[in-house]
Amino acid sequence: MRYEMTKDLETGNAIIDKEHKELFDAVNRLLDACSKGQGRAAMDGAIQFLVNYVDKHFANEERLQQSKNYPGMAAHKAFHTSYKKELRQIANHISTEGPSVTNLGKLNGHVAVLLNHIRVEDKKLSAFLKQA
Ligand SMILES: [Fe+2]
Repeated sequence: MRYEMTKDLETGNAIIDKEHKELFDAVNRLLDACSKGQGRAAMDGAIQFLVNYVDKHFANEERLQQSKNYPGMAAHKAFHTSYKKELRQIANHISTEGPSVTNLGKLNGHVAVLLNHIRVEDKKLSAFLKQA
């Protein structure tokens, strides 16, 4: 399965949408590296890129919220913090145990959580930024 930017995932904020697309590409590259057996180095590189990119993207969103005093900032940041923690755990499992069906299921499930967050919370944030 491949992740792509679809209409329902567009928040309307150009920066946020561009980063979400980049993030989906990073997940796709990791899934490719896992399924095509590109080897250990490619898989670990793709894992590291994804973890780092999520950190960077969440930090950018939080900076945008802070600069405009977004009222939902605390809850949004709390979600990001726990999301990053769980992503790291899943990434460690894939790295140490390999891309088993269970581990890839966990990764896809965690991506699904992010898609829901985008559809609800990031859209709310983008609507706020538009009028701020
Ligand atoms: Fe977010």
